[in-house]
Amino acid sequence: MLQGKTIVLGITGGIAAYKAAAVCSKLSQSGADVRVVMTESATKFIAPLTFQAISRNRVIVDTFDEEDPSVIAHIDLADRADAVVIAPATANFLAKTALGLGDDMLSTTLLATRAPILVAPAMNVHMYAHVTVQTHMEQLRARGVRFVEPGEGFLACGYTGKGRLAEPEHIVDELMRMFKMKSELSGKKVLVTAGATVERIDPVRYLTNDSSGKMGFAVAAAARDRGARVTVIAGRTSVEPPSGVDVIRVESAEEMLHAALSKFGDADIVVKAAAVADYRPVRTEQKKIKKSEQHLSLELERTTDILKELGNRKTHQVLVGFAAETHELERQAMAKIASKRCDLVVANDVTIPGAGFSADTNEVSIFDTNGLVEKLPLQSKRDAAERIVTLAAGLLAERSGGKQGR
Ligand code: CTP
Repeated sequence: MLQGKTIVLGITGGIAAYKAAAVCSKLSQSGADVRVVMTESATKFIAPLTFQAISRNRVIVDTFDEEDPSVIAHIDLADRADAVVIAPATANFLAKTALGLGDDMLSTTLLATRAPILVAPAMNVHMYAHVTVQTHMEQLRARGVRFVEPGEGFLACGYTGKGRLAEPEHIVDELMRMFKMKSELSGKKVLVTAGATVERIDPVRYLTNDSSGKMGFAVAAAARDRGARVTVIAGRTSVEPPSGVDVIRVESAEEMLHAALSKFGDADIVVKAAAVADYRPVRTEQKKIKKSEQHLSLELERTTDILKELGNRKTHQVLVGFAAETHELERQAMAKIASKRCDLVVANDVTIPGAGFSADTNEVSIFDTNGLVEKLPLQSKRDAAERIVTLAAGLLAERSGGKQGR
């Protein structure tokens, strides 16, 4: 699986840097072209020559070590990488990466690459548990960076606990799993709706809701990372869509309906994460409504239920709906599965702190036509999105006769 792949192995300055030699060796033995980048501090623990000998490639430490004048070293490396593995990653390195600092060869390469990134942290038990380290890891996870958690045991600092670098075999296995996942949806088309619709009252006023688009964008990024061709139909959002996906911007439920219908026939998986208005003003005034001393009533009419329309037209597609509820989660979710002909419904109780519209986290339960499939803990929207995509990809594989584990 790693044969012919270019793997950038980043090594930062922790005592576990010596274990990176085993990681490098296993990658090379698997046929990968390993390009080692070390931070200045890493070279205090182990010599670049070790990695040069194992990888049979030049080791880069200095950003300005531009050996080949026809390219810019860190951009070239970033473009050529099929994956980047950081082992070990220090607390300092996690903080720098979370912030997007680029002050050495490794950090600039990470900023410039589009390749998937796998990070194996290693540090003292208290440093690992520190709120800033955990926050930075959470931020990176939300951006799609994957982690191999450290193991527990005796640490070089004398403590016993969680912080030792994961075993080299485990890191390489995780990398292989990442490549396998990358091809899971290759050749498939995934359609995602995200964000809030906007229903105009007059030229300056509208009805909308608090949806940020984060959940839909996280689903889009997760599907993209498994090799799918992803189209996102996005209403009003408070965050930017992920890179590498096609984005169709719409405003009203009606516009979202037309965009969704035009893409539905071709799609293999459709995830309707958008918060679509159920009602819109019967009339949109062309001129701004002026105030008066009288009451003002807005007459509203139903919008089309896009998910239901798609459910009625469903042929081969795996259709995933969302349900934001305040009570009777299971009953409401199952009712939506039935009435909208969904294959899966992702339901969340919006009364739980940290779950719902604008948060970076969500606590969801996923239902299929037989009932509850999985109740996920409170986690990043990206992690929740990974499970949603895994389950949808599993159903798709089942349908096409293949087998895919849940
Ligand atoms: N949905 C849609 N078109 C609409 C309304 C909702 O496609 N006009 C989709 C959403 O994208 C989401 C799911 O339907 O996937 C939510 O279902 P819905 O029944 O609208 O949820 P609520 O608005 O919470 O429903 P209710 O008011 O019935 O509780």
